[in-house]
Amino acid sequence: MSAKVIDGKAFAAGLRERIGREVARLKQAGGFTPGLAVVLVGEDPASQVYVRSKGKSTVEVGMNSFEHKLDAATPEAELLALVDTLNKDPAVHGILVQLPLPRHIDEAKVLAAIVPEKDVDGFHVVNAGKLATGAKDAIVPCTPLGSLMLLKDTLGDLTGKSAVVVGRSNIVGKPMAQLLIKESCTVTVAHSKTRDLPAVVRGADIVVAAVGRAEMVKGDWIKPGATVIDVGINRVTGADGKGKLVGDVDYASAAQVAGAITPVPGGVGPMTIACLLANTLIAACRAKGLAEPKL
Ligand code: GUN
Repeated sequence: MSAKVIDGKAFAAGLRERIGREVARLKQAGGFTPGLAVVLVGEDPASQVYVRSKGKSTVEVGMNSFEHKLDAATPEAELLALVDTLNKDPAVHGILVQLPLPRHIDEAKVLAAIVPEKDVDGFHVVNAGKLATGAKDAIVPCTPLGSLMLLKDTLGDLTGKSAVVVGRSNIVGKPMAQLLIKESCTVTVAHSKTRDLPAVVRGADIVVAAVGRAEMVKGDWIKPGATVIDVGINRVTGADGKGKLVGDVDYASAAQVAGAITPVPGGVGPMTIACLLANTLIAACRAKGLAEPKL
């Protein structure tokens, strides 16, 4: 059996197009432009690539992009002051502080300083709590949101399915589990301490791998016909000595067994930025008291 390849790149392109149309409509009818502020502290190369990509995508859908690049030695108080300024700026509807932050800065304190209405990452405890309690106006973290969109596009109704999320991070694992519970799945959250992880994964109709370990989930862990969402992005050295990106799933073996699977790159990755733009658009509509668009 060879799995259907879930084309996240194409789905994300469609989503960005729909967002772009809504932005154009808001500019014309609403007389305003949604704006996203991205804050980068330091020179982490991967973060620089992500931030550049976010800025480019923001402009491409017609939104305003405000980039703030701070020195790695920036004191915490200075970053908190910038967040405060962005909180109060009416042209800014979404704020994202790129993680990880330098060690001298308390990440939780910075995330807590962003007003929940502008927290387009969905990392604030208010948004995490709203998601966990089923509040309609939760801002949902982008990677789990994008993963859920791909799952629903592939499978339709998820009711009653057994789902295993491998990974328990605040950014992906926990919110992913909450979203799947909301879709009436039976959810198991597995992690590095889970006993007999292969057997746990083998019970799942839906596998979401978000552990950050290259090619850890093997094909013989997958139930035949299962849907596999690979959130991992790991840079490894290939057999030819060149660097390449791989997921948390051993794609070659898993694709033999799964019913559908996301590739890396081109699966979940492009969905994350598209969902960031979607969250920004929704935050902007709420700030203006306008109806939220159906994307
Ligand atoms: N670093 C890696 N992924 C993310 C993300 O989704 N949001 C933020 N703020 N930082 C990240």
